[in-house]
Amino acid sequence: MDTTKVTGLKKADLPETIQLYKDLDVSVKELLKSANKVRLNAYVPYSNFKVGAAFRSKCGRIFNGCNVENAAFSPSSCAERTAICKAVSEGVREFTAAAVVAYQEDAFTTPCGVCRQFIMEFAHGDIPLYVAKAVQTNAEDLKELEGDLENLSTDNVLCTSIYNLLPNGFRNFKKIVN
Ligand code: THU
Repeated sequence: MDTTKVTGLKKADLPETIQLYKDLDVSVKELLKSANKVRLNAYVPYSNFKVGAAFRSKCGRIFNGCNVENAAFSPSSCAERTAICKAVSEGVREFTAAAVVAYQEDAFTTPCGVCRQFIMEFAHGDIPLYVAKAVQTNAEDLKELEGDLENLSTDNVLCTSIYNLLPNGFRNFKKIVN
């Protein structure tokens, strides 16, 4: 049986590819830049691992967020959930694309399982997700950072989607009336 036809199963509509930053649409570059900027605000005294995320809303606005850690560890918020909570608390609940950046020398930092489920909640279909290596910068101000962001051009970007990252993810449940 073709499982894509089974109600409730979410299969990716978008292929997973790797593309060069310079070949991406301006709107995607804008998301990746926003994620890089907000990443500098990450509060990471425990892991020292900064992450930035940016989500584009259906109406075109960008909401970004960084990870915020806590001494008790489990209350920490990942960058993706910070960004989504910022948007939802501003009345925005639907997104069309997202970007996540963190710095690992030779690995893409894809969203954790909890964030995949969180993103799924507000994706009304498959949405593209762009994962890239964060720009390494010692910039003291935004203008200097803008300069460093121009060096992203040769970087690889993982272009994936929420249904690629969370196939057959949990969507909702129907109340069983006994
Ligand atoms: N982190 C994120 O912010 N997003 C992810 O998708 C993966 C992990 C954060 C959580 C924690 O603050 C740090 O990265 C190390 O795990």
